[in-house]
Amino acid sequence: MKRILDLRITAVERTSQTSVLLRAAAAEGALPECRPGQFAQLSVEEQGTLLRRPISIHEARDGEILFLVQEVGRGSRWLARRRAGDVVNAVLPLGHGFTCQGLGRGERVLLVGGGVGVAPLLMLGRWWREQGVEPTYLLGGRSKDHLLRLDAFREVGRVEVTTEDGSLGERGFVTDHSLLRQEEFSLIQTCGPTPMMKSVARYARQRGVPCEVSLENHMACGVGACLCCVTADREGHNRCVCTEGPVFPAELIMND
Ligand SMILES: Cc1cc2nc3c(=O)[nH]c(=O)nc-3n(C[C@H](O)[C@H](O)[C@H](O)COP(=O)(O)OP(=O)(O)OC[C@H]3O[C@@H](n4cnc5c(N)ncnc54)[C@H](O)[C@@H]3O)c2cc1C
Ligand code: FES
Repeated sequence: MKRILDLRITAVERTSQTSVLLRAAAAEGALPECRPGQFAQLSVEEQGTLLRRPISIHEARDGEILFLVQEVGRGSRWLARRRAGDVVNAVLPLGHGFTCQGLGRGERVLLVGGGVGVAPLLMLGRWWREQGVEPTYLLGGRSKDHLLRLDAFREVGRVEVTTEDGSLGERGFVTDHSLLRQEEFSLIQTCGPTPMMKSVARYARQRGVPCEVSLENHMACGVGACLCCVTADREGHNRCVCTEGPVFPAELIMND
């Protein structure tokens, strides 16, 4: 159940020139149960900024919660400047996350992430693994410096990588990776830039593989009140991304 609570930052680790890993714990009491693909609305106490920022739950277990934050503007830069001991107010967990049951032992799940869109896939892979389903990660970035927390992902599953400049793994986009031509999966789940998720969804549709996408639409309230996150599905019906998503079946939402 969602709660408003203060999180105390316990550590901040730089993960690239423009991103950090925030480690935190509930300042009082326990963290609520969080599922893979859910997110938190984190308050930003920057002057002139009233809105909270939606950030995926990267991992949540043993009383600790992790967030991977890419600095793109005022709010994310404020979050990235936090230090151990600081307090950040949060509303969490929000939204409907990824499906993380229903595959049998021996079935294979492919988790495709690009940029900071890899964030929700760490906990997702762990949940699959705990059910006996080995996750394969396919992670893409512009260069090796844009691939975040590879070692953490390697602790959870097999990791394959593409970079656009060829500095690590296979050169190109995730959908160019050779494993997509050579291997079969029962389910594909993805989060990252929209063009990447569209290509992944197209690949899945051509292969007849179920696919889920996690949208990162702009959000204000995060709880279904302002409707600024709404997106039209393939039939033209409005979907409220913060409450009905952010995770949707690809065939419901991706148009081409
Ligand atoms: C469900 C969800 C989960 C997310 N998870 C993460 C996460 O784990 N880590 C992370 O770093 N970011 C995540 N984001 C994106 C993050 O919320 C935005 O980057 C952040 O709100 C930007 O705020 P800002 O004040 O730094 O930037 P602003 O000053 O508001 O904007 C700076 C630039 O970023 C663009 N921008 C703002 N919001 C978004 C967005 N949602 N998608 C794409 N571009 C945007 C603006 O158009 C502008 O160009 C997530 C978004 C959603 C909806
Ligand atoms: S962000 Fe306000 S309704 Fe979704």
